[in-house]
Amino acid sequence: MPLKTPRVALVTGGMGGLGEAICIKLAGLGYKVVTTHSPGNAKAAEWLDAMNKQGYGFRAYGCDVADYDSAVACVQKVVAEVGAIDVLVNNAGITRDMTFKKMDKVNWDAVMRTNLDSLFNMSKQVVDAMSDRGWGRVINVSSVNGSKGAFGQTNYSAAKAGVHGFTKALALEVAKKGVTVNTISPGYIGTKMVTAIPKEVLDSKILPHIPVGRLGKPEEVAGLIIYLASDEAAFVTGANIAINGGQHMQ
Ligand code: CAA
Repeated sequence: MPLKTPRVALVTGGMGGLGEAICIKLAGLGYKVVTTHSPGNAKAAEWLDAMNKQGYGFRAYGCDVADYDSAVACVQKVVAEVGAIDVLVNNAGITRDMTFKKMDKVNWDAVMRTNLDSLFNMSKQVVDAMSDRGWGRVINVSSVNGSKGAFGQTNYSAAKAGVHGFTKALALEVAKKGVTVNTISPGYIGTKMVTAIPKEVLDSKILPHIPVGRLGKPEEVAGLIIYLASDEAAFVTGANIAINGGQHMQ
């Protein structure tokens, strides 16, 4: 349903993939949509220009979600220039897939910092203000692989499992303040992150395990996010909603 009063939604990692689909759906409902991109991303201005030529009215800010000080500076700027944040979608994430035998500390830390520490860094900047205003939505993007594990992803599976622990604890703390906190756990969606998997692995080890028989679409995940962001979803909190084509049922 279109918004009666405009709300500000901040989507981390909104350029491309899931994040872009989420931004587009939110904009279509009348949200003021702000996204973050890695500081120094040379393609950011070009992307923003192309999207806004299509009428989305996005704003974009450089932010290293893995870095606390960068998150502080980014959110301060967004609040000053756009307004208080009503909806935070913690979407930014990376993979550094390799077997545990080959996993080094650098690739462990990079994934934990970007995929898990980022939830603290970003949510910390917005949750108190949401609670004070009596309304807010925090939506954390996890993964089917946080629930079931995945070959080559000790780092990613650990971080994504941690996402839902964070969700549950924070949801309890803010439940009486009109703020909901939820996790969504997408399966294999047709984004660059998934199409980067070696084709023979995708075809032989992954696709056969998706009962629906195909990769998910970014718009399907975005549809779930806009529901969780809505007023109608006020009674959904602390949930972990799977969207994986039947690949993993809990
Ligand atoms: N299950 C079981 N065995 C597997 C396997 C799997 N999923 N993937 C690889 N193997 C096996 C291979 O068959 C191979 O076995 P043999 O030695 O007996 O032939 C062995 O593991 C080594 O495989 P590789 O030659 O591929 O080894 P590698 O070191 O070059 O690469 C890898 C390993 C990085 C894990 C690579 O296989 C890979 O990228 N796998 C995909 C990992 C994956 O699913 N990532 C998800 C990314 S998408 C995402 O994360 C989004 C989301 O939220 C869902």
